[in-house]
Amino acid sequence: MFKILLVVAVDLAIVWATDYDLHIEDPEVYSPCTDGPPGSISIPEAFDMTHMVFYQDEEGIHISGNYTVKWDLPRTDRISATFKVMYFNRGSWEPTILSQVTTNLCAVMFDKNQYWYKYWFQHIVNKEDLKKNCITTKDSVAVLNPFIMLLRLNNINGTSFRGRYKVVFLLEAFDEKNKRRPTSVCFEFRGEVEKVKK
Ligand SMILES: *[C@@H]1O[C@H](CO)[C@@H](O)[C@H](O)[C@H]1NC(C)=O
Ligand SMILES: *[C@@H]1O[C@H](CO)[C@@H](O)[C@H](O)[C@H]1NC(C)=O
Repeated sequence: MFKILLVVAVDLAIVWATDYDLHIEDPEVYSPCTDGPPGSISIPEAFDMTHMVFYQDEEGIHISGNYTVKWDLPRTDRISATFKVMYFNRGSWEPTILSQVTTNLCAVMFDKNQYWYKYWFQHIVNKEDLKKNCITTKDSVAVLNPFIMLLRLNNINGTSFRGRYKVVFLLEAFDEKNKRRPTSVCFEFRGEVEKVKK
């Protein structure tokens, strides 16, 4: 089973934090969205993941390798990136207060305050290529420094986690006239959350 350490902090000023393990169901970590928008594709359709390696041990998910962009859009497109945490309650997925919209991912992918930077883009070796190509230039390659994935969420409301959760990611493209492209990328991390025993 794969594991992501979910560290939930109650506030920036907190003196305590609670650690949660998310036991990911899918051995590849990411799954296609169970309820993605019409026209959405999943990770392997948007990126060639053949040279990516994911493996799990006690520390978490070790990620390394490189991937090639298959998605093919003009660099002038704006990419909006959304993630939301949902929880499984009595047979259906319900939203939680944890969500974020990044309206122009390509403009802020190297902003150190962004989740996207902290959990993915900081690990890219060829950052200059990525700045130039973002994630939508066909045949561009992103090479990763090996790292262990650690998902840290700031929970401003002090909600506690238990049970089955998923994080849903949606990447949408808008052309120069701000018209949404019909194809978007949707994927999710699904798993069981357990409090870490200390
Ligand atoms: C991507 O990974 C493959 C397999 O490890 C390797 O042969 C190839 O050289 C890598 N490509 C880049 C650009 O690093
Ligand atoms: C925080 O939790 C309270 C009670 O559970 C709820 O009423 C409120 O809407 C939540 N705040 C946010 C920002 O979601």
